[in-house]
Amino acid sequence: MAEIRFEKVSKKFGTKTIIKDLDLTIEDGSFTVMIGPSGCGKTTLLRMIAGIGPQTSGKIYLDGKDISDIPPAKRNVAMVFQNYAIYPTMTVRENIEFGLKNNKVPKEERDRLVREVTESVGIDDLLERKPNTLSGGQRQRIALARAMIKKPKVFLMDEPLSNLDAKLRSGMRTELIELHKRLKTTFVYVTHDQIEAMSMASHIILMNDGEIIQSDSPRDIYNNPKNLFTAQFIGSPQMNVLKAAGNEISFCFRPEKVHMSIEASNLFYCRKGEIVTKEMLGSETLYQIRFEGQSVMVKSLDDNFQEGPIYISVDKQDILLFDIDDKIIPPHSTQHEQWLNIIGGVTYA
Ligand SMILES: Nc1ncnc2c1ncn2[C@@H]1O[C@H](COP(=O)(O)OP(=O)(O)O)[C@@H](O)[C@H]1O
Ligand SMILES: [Mg+2]
Repeated sequence: MAEIRFEKVSKKFGTKTIIKDLDLTIEDGSFTVMIGPSGCGKTTLLRMIAGIGPQTSGKIYLDGKDISDIPPAKRNVAMVFQNYAIYPTMTVRENIEFGLKNNKVPKEERDRLVREVTESVGIDDLLERKPNTLSGGQRQRIALARAMIKKPKVFLMDEPLSNLDAKLRSGMRTELIELHKRLKTTFVYVTHDQIEAMSMASHIILMNDGEIIQSDSPRDIYNNPKNLFTAQFIGSPQMNVLKAAGNEISFCFRPEKVHMSIEASNLFYCRKGEIVTKEMLGSETLYQIRFEGQSVMVKSLDDNFQEGPIYISVDKQDILLFDIDDKIIPPHSTQHEQWLNIIGGVTYA
């Protein structure tokens, strides 16, 4: 068991409040990803769990036990940092067994544990090397192995893949998912990259300005955003947002939900526009379409459309509406239906 619970936790730096009265539960065994724009407080939150940047007020519980006054080394959590924090003068082995040596774990036991964790992350053949002779991906694995060897109840990871190139990053994502499956330990993973969040998380916590904006499964955070911030933050390219009803309503749809056609369609929302840019992504193509003074992005499997006139249409069920306070107007509600009738009114024959 390793459930983490925040109770009315606040964090100040000097007089500046970064996090205020935060309540939060991170489920035991979950792969929880904290995501949000740079500066929103993700690292601050992780450091509070680790105990290396304690909260100003409030309590943090691990398995129901108040750990607020327990020093970092005794919390049974391990943190993997963005810059790995590896000692350059030590070999891979020395880096990994450092903590164990400090705790006077006998050599035989150390050797066994080092073998176990390095095999697990695939660096068991690099033990006598110095970190500066290794690639970014290999160094990242050292940091992981060093965290794993403590057999922590919780893994905290702060943008651990952000220094790796795109291809390696995607490979490491898969490995982390597998690692989590094997260890069944609680993972708390911080990133500003929504693709990382969507692909790895069992649960996503989206933050902004020190507050939790939405906490949900990846599926729900994508399909059922509760507010406009979530709708726009999650998804690439971004959700299309049009203002309607004199700016009272945000009328939104995802780029992959737009149909393009040479002739007008009989779908609910159909508009005539013009393709202004076309971007080939490989399996998909991204079109920028301008209509009625607005611009939308469309992601399509069809790369045959050329710049020039085009019809775009969106099905009723793929339209999300947000009110003037950026809150979702529940789909299928009467209110939603009424607004759609007001906004969607015009269709091109
Ligand atoms: N040691 C510090 N002293 C003063 N302000 C800090 C300190 N650490 C972080 N902050 C501020 O707290 C806010 C949240 O920072 P951080 O948790 O690092 O954000 P994130 O990890 O989401 O990018 C930022 O405004 C940052 O400037
Ligand atoms: Mg950070």
